[in-house]
Amino acid sequence: MTFLATAARCEMQPPIALGKLFRNRPKTGGIESWFPDSEIHFTYKGRTAIRHLCDLLDLRGSEVLMPAYNCGAEIEPLIRGGARIVPYRVDKSATADIEDIRKLISDKTRAVHVTHYFGFPQPIDEIRKVCDRHRLFLIEDCALALFSAWQDRKLGSWGDVSIFSLPKSIPVPDGGVLVINSPRLQSWEWKKRSAPLLSATRRSLSLFKSSLFRKRPLDNHPDRIDSELQDGVPIGVPMEEWYSSPEVRGTDGLPDVPGWMHYEETFTDRTLSWFSAHLLRGVDEDEIIKTRRRNYLCLASLLSGRPGFTLLYKMLPPGVCPLGLPLVCRDRESLCRHLSMRGITAAIWWPGFDRNMDWDRFQEARFLKNHVLLLPAHQGLGEKDMEYIAHAVATLNSQ
Ligand SMILES: Cc1ncc(COP(=O)(O)O)c(C=O)c1O
Repeated sequence: MTFLATAARCEMQPPIALGKLFRNRPKTGGIESWFPDSEIHFTYKGRTAIRHLCDLLDLRGSEVLMPAYNCGAEIEPLIRGGARIVPYRVDKSATADIEDIRKLISDKTRAVHVTHYFGFPQPIDEIRKVCDRHRLFLIEDCALALFSAWQDRKLGSWGDVSIFSLPKSIPVPDGGVLVINSPRLQSWEWKKRSAPLLSATRRSLSLFKSSLFRKRPLDNHPDRIDSELQDGVPIGVPMEEWYSSPEVRGTDGLPDVPGWMHYEETFTDRTLSWFSAHLLRGVDEDEIIKTRRRNYLCLASLLSGRPGFTLLYKMLPPGVCPLGLPLVCRDRESLCRHLSMRGITAAIWWPGFDRNMDWDRFQEARFLKNHVLLLPAHQGLGEKDMEYIAHAVATLNSQ
């Protein structure tokens, strides 16, 4: 019963469509067809793809310009790969500052890392031009931007290399992708080993469990929720579980990156699991883009004008496949906890501060790290769920 009681109604990762799980799946499709002219490598995680590109781009001993607004999981593999991180400014709208990138280029710089936050494009054309002018590699981080496009061109196709993290957008237990676009680069050879059995099985079971025991939108009636809460049953995944590692604070008083974001060297030569590869073949890209956009627009309009937060993005540009709906909140911890009690897993977005950066210099990135909360809007949810989330948000303000 506790098992059921903790099932989420609106979780952060889309669930597996269990009915379709054992249907015949096409042999090909998915990522290979998204970048037909590029070389594609599947890795166990997005961060392992980043570790590989260090060797591919020969980054040892050189500098990589890195956005100050980052999660930390992308920094560690670069450092393990021998690169030195030089952070550049990202403003309060989560946009990379191209002037700052220009100023920071030195004769040691070899690459610029760009992150498309929540599926929304950075000014990638201009950054590409800066890289070309200075003969730098462009690393396009699409960990949060699977299926997104800008000006009819897929994000991930501007970089000399790009990386993806599959479980953030589709229901797979593991999987990262390294896409090599540049003809300047040699074909990448590495000794692949199968996915780590224990870790992949644990992740598969957890995804399977949350897909099997999720509550459907029909259960979402707000009155029923309030009566369940009066019985004292916590029906969501508590925030502490989502961000479960014990918090460690540095001398500057800022919390460290959570333990599960750190880099595990033993995964470097591992590829994605058989289960992920199987699930990937059934992915319907057009349907995912359509549903995510519809959910985003629906939730954004239901929330517009509410007190206590603003939307990070004022518009949803054509081609964007949103990861979720990012809010900039006055008090995101209270909102997150309130939603969690109602079965809605919102994500406190990147509360950890990587120890390799001087955060005093990046107040805007710090602001985003302290205020952004991501609401779910993925393809496993529908308009009823968006109404449910909006209602839950409204009840916080009315309490
Ligand atoms: C921007 C960014 N890049 C890279 C990664 C690494 O992806 P993964 O978790 O699959 O290793 C993450 C994930 O935490 C991320 O947020």
